[in-house]
Amino acid sequence: MHDFDYRDGKLYCGDVALEDIARDVGTPFYCYSLPTLHRHIRAFEEPLAGVNHQTCFAMKANSSLAILSYMAGQGLGADVVSGGELYRALKAGIPASRVVYSGVGKTTDEIDMAIQAGIMMFNIESEQELGVINERAGELGERAPVSIRVNPDVDPMTHPYISTGMKKNKFGIDVEASMAQYLRARDMENIEIVGIDCHIGSQLTDLSPFLDAVDRLKTLVEKLASHGITLKYLDLGGGLGITYSDEEPPHPRDYCRAITDAVGPLGLKLIFEPGRVIVGNTGVMVATVLFRKETKDKTFIVVDAGMNDLIRPALYGAYHDIRPLEAVNGARETVDVVGPICESGDFLARDRELPELSRGDLIAVMSAGAYGFTMSSNYNSRTRPPEVLVDGAKYYVVLKRQSYEDLVTGEKVPAAVRNKRG
Ligand code: LLP
Repeated sequence: MHDFDYRDGKLYCGDVALEDIARDVGTPFYCYSLPTLHRHIRAFEEPLAGVNHQTCFAMKANSSLAILSYMAGQGLGADVVSGGELYRALKAGIPASRVVYSGVGKTTDEIDMAIQAGIMMFNIESEQELGVINERAGELGERAPVSIRVNPDVDPMTHPYISTGMKKNKFGIDVEASMAQYLRARDMENIEIVGIDCHIGSQLTDLSPFLDAVDRLKTLVEKLASHGITLKYLDLGGGLGITYSDEEPPHPRDYCRAITDAVGPLGLKLIFEPGRVIVGNTGVMVATVLFRKETKDKTFIVVDAGMNDLIRPALYGAYHDIRPLEAVNGARETVDVVGPICESGDFLARDRELPELSRGDLIAVMSAGAYGFTMSSNYNSRTRPPEVLVDGAKYYVVLKRQSYEDLVTGEKVPAAVRNKRG
């Protein structure tokens, strides 16, 4: 469910015509709907009312300060994977006590920053990381709260690049090996064991892998208890999928209920780390058609947004629906929608049947609220696009477009290099 609909033949976000925003901020731009965001948060939270839990939004999906600060107000925490994300979470008003820190490659500075901020817990991804966190906590005169990210070896049946809970993936610690790490952690002076964690993948459209993972974690929780290790948190990661085209993922209500039923009366606080399901369908990316290019074999619609703005189609072959901002009932044609980047992988859609588009037409690339802007880059020295947040009839530019000056900020040409130019 989202808020992007045609009215009198024009695509709107709430009560604002997307073409009005385009006229104001130019294209490409990202546009998010605040009421949709609100609905998605509530759809996740309502089935959990009465369940001892904390939802920690996976910020990698969307780290806009405006969006995060709205989430902070809704009581959400954050799942962070870098010092930069922790910085943003705190800046947006998310208390450190609601932050979990995941990721296989935490640096010493990042570990120190998180310990000093007083986060809820580190999700430990390797034996060595556990030792380093113990050391750093000792150095800082603190005790670091940790959970071990267990790799439950279940197949999430999703794209291989976004599967994380199988033995061949770099994430987490084997179920078998994790017992030894818990015992090791128990004897560490500066470590407080607080939980157990897993995350098996992203864009899952079936409940069974989640339930298999819960089963494996539960067995481990019981084994830990028999060794006198009691936990506070059971972190089940994120991963619930959304509809990009014709997928039919479980509704958050069914997901939350199935998980809480499967967990049963363990007495642990449940931590969830949803990303995509909260923000994916809250956003679109709007672009302008620059050219039509017709060859003997194909018609290319060249637009002003490329893989640097939205990389998902190029990287995962991901499908994003494309809608013209002006509804047309005329002829349709099969086209490739491509960007301006100098790579053949730079496409937004391939062999897609769309209404005939001409130079100057505007299109919306749908379901772009998750892993859209956050994965954008300056490749080809293209400026990163602005982000706009719509609330009813009002809209706010929550990030302005980068300028060319921004592109070179921080760069230096050393005098010695300049002199050598001859
Ligand atoms: N927790 C952890 C530890 C994660 O690694 C992830 C995502 C999440 C939570 C949130 O998962 P979600 O609920 O959004 O599925 N760039 C890819 C997705 C990568 C997901 C990586 N981890 C894409 O555009 O599809």
